[in-house]
Amino acid sequence: MGGRIVQLSLKSEEGRSRGLPKHPVQELVITPEGVQGDFNRWRTEEAAGDPDQAVLLQSEEFLADLRAEGWPVQAGDMGENLTVAGLRSDALRPGVRVHLGEVVLEVSKVCDPCTILFGLPYVGIERGPAFLRALAGRRGWFARVLQGGMIRTDMPVDVVSTDCRRLVHDAEGLNTGVWPFRPDSLVTPVDRFFTRSHAPVPRIDPTGWRLEVDGLVDRPRSFSLEELRGAFPRRSVTATLVCAGLRRDEFMSLGPLRGELPWGPEAISTGEWTGVALRDLLQAVGVGERARHVEFIGLDDVERHGHRFGFGGSIDLAKALSGEVLLASELNRAPLPAAHGFPIRVVVPGWIGARSVKWLGRITLAEAPSTNYFQSRAYRVLREINATDPRDISAGVAMSGVPLNAVILDPTAAQVVPAGRVPVRGWAMGSEGRPPTAVEVSSNGGEDWVAARIGVKGAAWTWAFWEAAVELAPGGHTLAVRATDGSGATQPRTLGETWNVKGYGNNAWHRVFVRAE
Ligand code: MTE
Repeated sequence: MGGRIVQLSLKSEEGRSRGLPKHPVQELVITPEGVQGDFNRWRTEEAAGDPDQAVLLQSEEFLADLRAEGWPVQAGDMGENLTVAGLRSDALRPGVRVHLGEVVLEVSKVCDPCTILFGLPYVGIERGPAFLRALAGRRGWFARVLQGGMIRTDMPVDVVSTDCRRLVHDAEGLNTGVWPFRPDSLVTPVDRFFTRSHAPVPRIDPTGWRLEVDGLVDRPRSFSLEELRGAFPRRSVTATLVCAGLRRDEFMSLGPLRGELPWGPEAISTGEWTGVALRDLLQAVGVGERARHVEFIGLDDVERHGHRFGFGGSIDLAKALSGEVLLASELNRAPLPAAHGFPIRVVVPGWIGARSVKWLGRITLAEAPSTNYFQSRAYRVLREINATDPRDISAGVAMSGVPLNAVILDPTAAQVVPAGRVPVRGWAMGSEGRPPTAVEVSSNGGEDWVAARIGVKGAAWTWAFWEAAVELAPGGHTLAVRATDGSGATQPRTLGETWNVKGYGNNAWHRVFVRAE
């Protein structure tokens, strides 16, 4: 889970003095050289400005433990620049990345307690050695700065482990996802977010950008970015974006799916999206009486069957007016990155990612669903192959909400784990905003099940994280997971039950083969 900054601290360079504590401030500017205006005598004079010691982090939970042991430590006493709370006890360790808004730090090493701490009023020379012993491994962590910027007290802290890599599914690097994925927070940091684009990322000049709103509306209008921001309240929704192709690689084990990207379980991420509500905008332009569908068209340039056009699709009016659909300009409290739709993208919580159109340029209200290729000829579920044109799925059902699903994140396929009690972790997500109410895990391919604990319940439109433990004897085992939601719905047992021509929406029990030794 992510945490929060509870205090920022620095010690002014004036006098180049020794001594602690640092004093609290509301904001800090962090550069690759370190914390601006903060003087660290040891780092400056002894460690030649070591970039691995640019910032010192401390956990409020460690301080609380020390207080419980009789040491009245306060935030800033350890000489730390950032006191953070709410992180799992093992979250901070060398190699993990700490995201604070635009700032990215990488934890480099543990900070060893030193005699300078004897100067704290409640320590002194006599109690000093006992204090250093109590602090062993708990003085905090040094970090280097991967990306600088400004941070403020109370900002969220996301910790990301780096034992993963970005899988790239196409030559241009447009379709990527991070795996293995062991999340430390409900929200996915931007550098761990999957990307799915059907054409190169368009370069958009935000000053010239306009959003056209037309079709069955009372007052067709065109908005500049400023007009859009000025006209409507700022709203945020935390929502998990799920690509319809998630887990397609399992279908591919049954036979080839020509022309389709072999997505595994990495095509899913959760963002904190901020922007304006589509409902607010639609109410302002007036929804025409005959309007039933809302179409979104992107400013990218896709080529299909000799035609070039912007990626698009539509949602029904009820969903469009539901309040949770956003025209987002920010992802995780920072401007939307180019790959994710800068300057504005649609976010349709609970629906397949394809309806969350990026680089939005036009919204059109109509009586019928969009005729855009990606609504009328792709992202449709067809279960029987069309004999005359095996890749034509236009007779299928246009996809909307994503189905109830669950995935094992840890251990990963073919992993060798120590025999005995093995922890199993993953995510589960209900359909149409319904949270998963139960998650079960099997260690024998689905013969027997144990209940998992849903430790992180998530928000209405997000995944939840669960964990369980299974006993594994030496040898090979097929782990499986299945979730149930509040309506009693559960997941199909086999891939055959959910197979469709283009391999969308796979929500069969997720199985992972592991070996115990
Ligand atoms: N919007 C445009 N304009 N072009 C695209 O190719 N891809 C869609 C959707 N919006 C796409 C788009 C698909 S299929 C998905 S899953 C999501 O964007 C992926 O969003 P992300 O790249 O921000 O993760």
